[in-house]
Amino acid sequence: MRSLIDIKDLSLAEIDSLIETAEDIMANPEKYAEACKGKRLATLFFEPSTRTRLSFESAMYQLGGNVLGFSEAQSSSTAKGESLSDTIRTVSNYVNIIAMRHPKEGAALAATMRSEVPIINAGDGGHNHPTQTLTDLITIKLEKGGFDGLTVGLCGDLKFGRTVHSLISAMARYKNVKFVLISPEELKVPDYIRDEVIIPSGAEFEETTDLVGSIDKLDILYMTRVQKERFFNEADYIRLKDIYILTPDKLANAKKDLAILHPLPRVNEISVAVDDDPRACYFKQVKYSVYIRMALILMLLKEAEGK
Ligand code: CP
Repeated sequence: MRSLIDIKDLSLAEIDSLIETAEDIMANPEKYAEACKGKRLATLFFEPSTRTRLSFESAMYQLGGNVLGFSEAQSSSTAKGESLSDTIRTVSNYVNIIAMRHPKEGAALAATMRSEVPIINAGDGGHNHPTQTLTDLITIKLEKGGFDGLTVGLCGDLKFGRTVHSLISAMARYKNVKFVLISPEELKVPDYIRDEVIIPSGAEFEETTDLVGSIDKLDILYMTRVQKERFFNEADYIRLKDIYILTPDKLANAKKDLAILHPLPRVNEISVAVDDDPRACYFKQVKYSVYIRMALILMLLKEAEGK
């Protein structure tokens, strides 16, 4: 049974095919309006979400399917002490596919061991968020025309940012991609991302604390939120939370065709004054996310049915 736990579960050809399907859905939504008629998606969110849960639900409704689920652990029997394993074993009797978010790294992978239906990892702790990465990739493809040769700056919380880890994993597979990793010392990418993903890929990379000094070389600037929920110590969060705030003046030396991405939610790290800059792509990401998730649901259901 095929699930999506890590972006590396998809080949580059499959990513291309998902992007192509998403573009076709955008152009011809009526063709897909009944593609999942009679099918059910469960959204099991043990952690808060606006975009991921609602875009999955919108995706399934736009495919003619139905949705059930919960948006917080407290409203499920998890609050009574039920294990994740039993929850998944139960819910997989009710639906054809499950999208789940959980605060523990590895929870989605663990769920695949008990599920009778495909599992989509909608974020597992500070680990991975592969469908955000598909959203990032379709945005990059539509904005830049492709992936090879891009210089990608990732800025903010590179330690706990699961969207950062998944995006690096994906982009490192393309040719001549360079990474500029911009963070305070305390929030640098984890060693396993540097040593097991970036270095073996052969991609050039640099680590720096300097956003303004790096901005002129970037094709993509991926801003991220410093995530309060991942800190053990509030004083550290307060000290680091506003360390990078992208404002129009900081873009003075940036390329004219820079694409500014952010997985959202945003707190302070991009000033609202940047939103009207034509290089700001973060609300385009929100739009594309529904179509790429539609494409993914179609792919996984088709494979589960052996078509
Ligand atoms: N990008 C993202 O995962 O947003 P939500 O937390 O709102 O789902």
